Amino acid sequence: MVMDDEMETKLIPTLNNMGWMAASIGDPYTREFIEYSATAARPVMEIGAAYGVAAASVLRSGGRIIVNDLDPHHLHVLYEQTPQALREQLHLMPGSCVDGIEVAEGSVSAILCARVFHFFDSSMISTCLNRFHRWLAPGGKIFIVADSVFHGMNQEIYPDFLVRKAAGHPTPGWVSLKNNQRLEMQKNREEIQRAMPEYFNFLDLETLAPLFKDAGFLVESAGYFNPEYYYDVSLWDGREGVGMVGLKAHPLGFG
Ligand SMILES: C[S@@+](CC[C@H](N)C(=O)[O-])C[C@H]1O[C@@H](n2cnc3c(N)ncnc32)[C@H](O)[C@@H]1O
Repeated sequence: MVMDDEMETKLIPTLNNMGWMAASIGDPYTREFIEYSATAARPVMEIGAAYGVAAASVLRSGGRIIVNDLDPHHLHVLYEQTPQALREQLHLMPGSCVDGIEVAEGSVSAILCARVFHFFDSSMISTCLNRFHRWLAPGGKIFIVADSVFHGMNQEIYPDFLVRKAAGHPTPGWVSLKNNQRLEMQKNREEIQRAMPEYFNFLDLETLAPLFKDAGFLVESAGYFNPEYYYDVSLWDGREGVGMVGLKAHPLGFG
């Protein structure tokens, strides 16, 4: 999310001030989604893709993919960069994943939603997970990646997070970055702040897991990871990213 002068090499700014897209595949959950997509019987889907780095990789492996983003200009860039021969495999779907798009029930094999949920509170995350569950075919998988409570920007405010979590707050990681101490130390802090929303929801596994369960997913794997796309200012202890893979079980529990 936050970077230094070398930003262009690892992170590409979004056109709608919704942070940055990772310029390359930099986490194990997105890699797993791409591998899984190569085996999928139905199309897969990427939510909040920005310019679609993961989607481009799926297309190159022969996969069919529905690519969503709030800002249609991002999707236009993806279309222009996609070789003519692969465009038939690409379906663009601009709009909000919360309430602005729809796909047929049970029609996709996998969904990747990377680095979008940290803009949403728990209620919006629940709404999305319920929608994703409906769109997935039985046996399909959801792959979520987000910034975690161990993101560097959270270091000074982590004790507050623990207090809110212990008190049962539904979105304990919801914070304003307006006067964030780490951010204040950056020489390009104004540029950085303009490029992203003021409020973030830094997630942890204990907050995400019940939302998966309530939407009907079985948690197949989950953990923290060290994002390859971040610069020092975003780092803390190697757990700055959080990922979770959920399975939509077959109705009779097999497969
Ligand atoms: C930080 S970028 C992440 C891009 C990419 N997924 C990645 O992991 O690098 C967040 C993206 O989510 C998109 N986004 C934010 N809210 C959204 C919503 N409600 N529905 C669809 N996309 C959304 C933004 O337009 C932006 O392109």
